[in-house]
Amino acid sequence: MSNDLTRRRLLGGAAGIAGVLALGACGRSGGAAVAPTSEAVRRAEAARQAAGARLVTARLAPRPVTLDLGGPTVDTWAYGDSLPGPLLRGRAGDRLRVDLSNNLPADTTVHWHGVALRNDMDGVPDVTQAKITPGGAFRYEFTVPDPGTYFYHPHVGVQLDRGLYGVLVVDDPDEPGRYDAEWILVLDDWVDGTGRTPDQVLESLARSGTAMGGMDGMGGMGGMGSMTSPLLGGAGDVSYPYYLANGRVPSAPLTFTGRPGQRVRLRIVNAGSDTAFRVAVGGHRLTVTHTDGFAVQPQQTDALLIAMGERFDVELTLGDGVFPLVAAAEGKSGLARALVRTSAGRVPSPSIRPAELGRQVLLANDLRAADAVRLAPKPVDRTLDLVLGGSMGSYEWTINGKTFPDTKPLPVEQGERLRLRFSNQSMMFHPMHVHGHTFGITDGGARKDTIIVRSMQSLAVELDANNPGQWASHCHNVYHAERGMMVNLSYRHT
Ligand code: C2O
Ligand code: CU
Repeated sequence: MSNDLTRRRLLGGAAGIAGVLALGACGRSGGAAVAPTSEAVRRAEAARQAAGARLVTARLAPRPVTLDLGGPTVDTWAYGDSLPGPLLRGRAGDRLRVDLSNNLPADTTVHWHGVALRNDMDGVPDVTQAKITPGGAFRYEFTVPDPGTYFYHPHVGVQLDRGLYGVLVVDDPDEPGRYDAEWILVLDDWVDGTGRTPDQVLESLARSGTAMGGMDGMGGMGGMGSMTSPLLGGAGDVSYPYYLANGRVPSAPLTFTGRPGQRVRLRIVNAGSDTAFRVAVGGHRLTVTHTDGFAVQPQQTDALLIAMGERFDVELTLGDGVFPLVAAAEGKSGLARALVRTSAGRVPSPSIRPAELGRQVLLANDLRAADAVRLAPKPVDRTLDLVLGGSMGSYEWTINGKTFPDTKPLPVEQGERLRLRFSNQSMMFHPMHVHGHTFGITDGGARKDTIIVRSMQSLAVELDANNPGQWASHCHNVYHAERGMMVNLSYRHT
């Protein structure tokens, strides 16, 4: 964890934050950084508050627990006694107040993934807040401006690869809700408590450079091993003993029940750390309506590919019977599953892979934004390049040749239209996530906060710089992020 030590030494908690943010020369965007606690951040938050907004309160107490995954029991850290953690839910414009008590034997924070919130509540240690120490507490309080499917997780180390995640749903008061039922499916790749912790996995990756080798069947960061996907390139570095759907192994699946002919809205979250999932429901077609919370032009598909940090809302019309809802680990062996039951019938075998998985597979990259959420046409004020790379020997992942916190902050001024150009020069795919904003994929693509950049390919997105502060942008492979693949989008005073 030398990375972590370096970070601590460089930034040293809350005092360090102020120190770092006070630096900066003058010139076009060479002004001082807009601090998370600045007046600009407070103003942006005030502008977000809706009339008639409610206050939604919740408590989170991350702690060591023993979880039953439906057979295997594991010692891990979680926000509750089952997976996922407590469902948080509000309406767009509501204020969320979450009191966190840290009952872990480690520092932690909470990040509200995908939410365009006030910068000082974003949960990035040493960037937007000091870490919450063991026994410590922190009140997160912020407005949730946009409806959609979101999730929350720590932003410290590789804690996300433990059981520390939960779903945040923001309802749209103006949405018709043309469905009969809503189901939530959270996918995860699981190693904690099976003989090694995520910290030990990270250590092995860092020590051996490319891979863990041996019995683990690690693919290696070159993606030259078994973990490749025709859709992505190199698909992962870690082979997991279990893949989970709502905290359950495939032999003890959760059952969603309904009646034939019902229309269901299914919200899918990939809370995994190193695994993309290919998702299908046997005997059904899926209509994708939203990704990362924002509406798309509805598109039908047999299957969809969902990377770490991405969310999809899909609609389906239920058939008559018992159907497997399968999430196959892309480029790896193993799957997660749940069951869909609308009548009596035999439960399909745990290893069944619906034929739909091998038919049409949709990526969010192929979707079009719904008209209502398309970015207004506007000339680009500033183009920022993010070259994604990896160095085999040391398991380091870089942006523009550097590892965080040595990556050079990307300067931004309030009000600008930005274009981010991702250029992936590694053999591995990277789901790139930008905090505090939702970008549009160029030329009318979906509005998103996390987007797959395939190996050796480039991709551009645009966004409006309308949320001042310091915003982490990183790969949502937690091992890549922890080994350097992160940079700050840094608002500057003009
Ligand atoms: Cu879910 Cu910084 O990410
Ligand atoms: Cu990555």
